[in-house]
Amino acid sequence: MSQARHLLSVSDLGAEGIDEVLRLADTFAEVGRRPIPRVPALRGKTVVLGFFEDSTRTRMSFEAAAKRLSADVMSFSSSGSSLSKGESLRDTVCNLEAMGVDAFVVRHSCAGAPSQVAGWLSHASVVNAGDGAHEHPTQALLDCYTLSRERARRLGVHPPRPAVLAGLRIAIVGDIRHSRVARSCVAAFSTLGAEVTLVAPPTLLPASLAGWPVEVSHDLDAQLAKCDVVYVLRIQAERMKEQFLPSLREYTATYGLTVQRARLLGPSALVMHPGPVCRGVELAAEVADSPASVITTQVGNGVAVRMAVLYLLLGSGGSLGSGEAG
Ligand code: ASP
Ligand code: CP
Repeated sequence: MSQARHLLSVSDLGAEGIDEVLRLADTFAEVGRRPIPRVPALRGKTVVLGFFEDSTRTRMSFEAAAKRLSADVMSFSSSGSSLSKGESLRDTVCNLEAMGVDAFVVRHSCAGAPSQVAGWLSHASVVNAGDGAHEHPTQALLDCYTLSRERARRLGVHPPRPAVLAGLRIAIVGDIRHSRVARSCVAAFSTLGAEVTLVAPPTLLPASLAGWPVEVSHDLDAQLAKCDVVYVLRIQAERMKEQFLPSLREYTATYGLTVQRARLLGPSALVMHPGPVCRGVELAAEVADSPASVITTQVGNGVAVRMAVLYLLLGSGGSLGSGEAG
């Protein structure tokens, strides 16, 4: 694998690159359990958190990850910045790079913004922290980590090396159309050998699924009875420019993971969700808090996985997949 400078899409990594991140995340998860969870790996490096769209989990876990690696962290958000005076995104990031920044973690409501930023920078790395309805690569990586490690833990076996999800039946349910998480997760899960089924009303599926390695179903009950993992998505109303559903109540009745529906799941099935959860809409509170749910485990694992990504991009001798070298 050649050394990559950016992480823009999970598809740039391939199975080998995903496995590299997951194996390193095991090491950093161990660091996280120490009384002082900090290593000097990125001392002297500066990471900018450039969040041009709201976030709780991704922003805070990148901050925790960078700090645990002893990097300096600077936070940038649009409100309060000179963007309000008419400064462009390009000038903003180039000015920040001039301050000696080594990496930008970028979240933006426009698909492709992190890739544009990468093109404007002369030396700093870019990590895509979610761009429009396009990609959320570190979410997919932390989900692969959670799935492989949690299943191994629950079955009392060692996590597979290299990481495989071979034959695992994963149902991704909900607003696929507006979900960058779905796009990155489909790519990552299928790269590792899982069988992915999208379950959604026709209006919440992308206009074209050409090239997506998935099955499609509109019958959630039938999928719940046979899946190993149900991955529930929020209705991303902030990205909707027209009405895609008659009502949220009707959506919950047909596609919500209610307490009654969750009873259809097998005894070892896992419930996942990237967060934020709208309790009572796509997922019942009781199901979110049930033993089958690994939602907070996903969030916790996000720190170690993001430490691995930052280390592979900025640490000495690291590598990260085959894409975007240079
Ligand atoms: N937090 C995830 C994202 O930013 C999922 C969501 O917002 O529903 O894409
Ligand atoms: N899962 C996720 O990306 O959460 P945030 O939007 O809170 O960062």
